Amino acid sequence: MGEGGVKTEKKKQHFDDIYVAETPVPFKERILDELEYISDRFNRAEFDRLILPWARRQAEEGRVLNFVDLAACFGNTTMATLYGMDYEAIRQNWRDEEACGSINGKRRFPARATGIDISSSAMAYGRKVGLFDETVVADLNVPAAEEERAVDKALSEADIVISTAALVYLEPETVRKVVDTFAGGQGEGYMLVNFLNPFGLEKADATKRTLLDSLDFVGSRATRHRRLSPLEQENYPGEEWSLLEIWVLRRAGE
Ligand SMILES: C[S@@+](CC[C@H](N)C(=O)[O-])C[C@H]1O[C@@H](n2cnc3c(N)ncnc32)[C@H](O)[C@@H]1O
Repeated sequence: MGEGGVKTEKKKQHFDDIYVAETPVPFKERILDELEYISDRFNRAEFDRLILPWARRQAEEGRVLNFVDLAACFGNTTMATLYGMDYEAIRQNWRDEEACGSINGKRRFPARATGIDISSSAMAYGRKVGLFDETVVADLNVPAAEEERAVDKALSEADIVISTAALVYLEPETVRKVVDTFAGGQGEGYMLVNFLNPFGLEKADATKRTLLDSLDFVGSRATRHRRLSPLEQENYPGEEWSLLEIWVLRRAGE
């Protein structure tokens, strides 16, 4: 367990100090740059392939979609999916303390965006720069009653939930609750999640089974995620990259 309740699998590098920094600049320098954290390139591509056409059709019908980024950190994957920004554009936007003070992009469809994370500073940043219209600060594994109500409301009312490089931090029963709450919501809805390799494969298997119990599988792709840190290269000899499986699931909502 690292600082502030973030639980990291022991063979995986922990980044807790970066998640609780005041701005996303350390995230950009030490994760996006140093580790070539390119996963949003692919999160965006999969979102564009399997969710964006549907979201645009909803927009044509005048709908404003409820978009939730679960364990959002500073909102990099919201920038990739809701704003359509690529890896380079996110790095450029977060290049220094001044540049990160506003978002250099526009939402691609009308949405009410909610960010949820244990990091109060990341949520304050997301709110301040307008990435998120609402935020919930909560330890998803042990939320206080009021936080739990806010998380449940956001998830059950969500049309789109993204949760990337994040489910790995959640206990199996938390994953079950998150998935069931979203699945119990009304109307068609989509969830984009991803699984990191080579970390915690048994836990990822259990998460996949939980997702498939309550949601329909739509599609997936395998990609690079980021370079392994020196510590991880010692733990996984011969490996240089962490790989990603990106999955999209659907709530039929009939
Ligand atoms: C790697 S970041 C995810 C950022 C982004 N989604 C991505 O794919 O790059 C993981 C986030 O999970 C959050 N987190 C970890 N444990 C959590 C918990 N128990 N409850 C809520 N958020 C948690 C961390 O604070 C961090 O912001």
